[in-house]
Amino acid sequence: MGIRILGTGSYLPPKVVTNDDIAHSLDTSDEWIYSHTGIHSRHVAGDGESTSSMAAEAARKAMEAAGVQPEEIGLIVVATSTPDYNPFPSTACLVQGLLGCVNAGAFDLQAACAGFVYALEQARGFVNFYPGKKALVIGAETLTRILDWSDRSSCILFGDGAGAVVLGNDEPPGVASLKTKAHTLLGADGNGSGFIQRTGGTRMALPINADTGVPLKAAPVLPELTLQGHDVFAFAVRTLSKVSRDLCELLGTKPEELDRVFAHQANGRIIEAVARRMKLPLEKFWLNLETTANTSAASIPISLDQAVRAGELKDGMKIVMVGFGAGLTYAGTYCTWPNL
Ligand code: UT7
Repeated sequence: MGIRILGTGSYLPPKVVTNDDIAHSLDTSDEWIYSHTGIHSRHVAGDGESTSSMAAEAARKAMEAAGVQPEEIGLIVVATSTPDYNPFPSTACLVQGLLGCVNAGAFDLQAACAGFVYALEQARGFVNFYPGKKALVIGAETLTRILDWSDRSSCILFGDGAGAVVLGNDEPPGVASLKTKAHTLLGADGNGSGFIQRTGGTRMALPINADTGVPLKAAPVLPELTLQGHDVFAFAVRTLSKVSRDLCELLGTKPEELDRVFAHQANGRIIEAVARRMKLPLEKFWLNLETTANTSAASIPISLDQAVRAGELKDGMKIVMVGFGAGLTYAGTYCTWPNL
């Protein structure tokens, strides 16, 4: 069997905010948002919900689907750009505590919307060399808490949620990766770091007390996301189609042989453009952003779980998972479901 996804799970908060709801307080409309993005509504975390609580819920469902107990988990990786704390303690540690995964190491991974594929690759390396242990790979975000809700060009795009998978491996250490027909490409372009940013961080020096030379307490900075939509759009179309095609070429598969593409759900028009470039029918692309909007690192695992539970992702299907995001980052995995 080798390295395999043993189970999937996802969680979307019950509170839904529609485009019409946003249009009550912003100069926008459902017509504009839907025609420019394919989004009608998004889920928004409520009181008592956070990135860690949603991540734990998605992970519980994935462990249940996999038939795996918390003690069997040896690693928890949470891909997120919106951790409960910024940045420590890690959300993965909070999840480890919530789930009682007493034998698991835990860390967060930040590669923005491409984070889930990066995390999957980390966990794949782990189970490859520690086959007795299972890994939980989670993408979870509470993006609605870092948006500038007065900026109509960015706040309409995002939503909250979490998705998770459990990875396992029954080959001896190091053997599975030699046999696998899966492949992953990870990439980045730091020159585009200004295209999507979150305010705050440590790049600005603290004010200094002129008399003592000792730094003063920092003024609080609201976490806010800024976006250069056009530049990101062009980068997304270019990289999603290139990574998918490159993966097919590496594995000796023609793109038309793919059964499903799970592309990061940022904008329906981006996915349509990628489908055109790859000369694939749009029906091969999983689309859920009409009701989820962009959930960043959670978008691919939420899509996988929805497809599995809808019976639309079957064993043996050739799939590509491909994402892009702030950094800029991009990442894709080709596999024959559910083997990695
Ligand atoms: O996961 C990574 C993050 N995702 C992304 O970065 C998404 C990538 N980019 C996009 O999805 C698109 O670029 C947007 C949806 C953000 C913008 O769509 P667009 O077709 O590129 O619109 P635009 O920025 O060219 O704006 C066209 C017009 C502008 O008005 P003027 O200057 O032509 O008068 C905007 O002010 O539409 C206006 N506009 C809006 N109008 C109504 C921008 N946002 C809105 C809005 N409602 N929500």
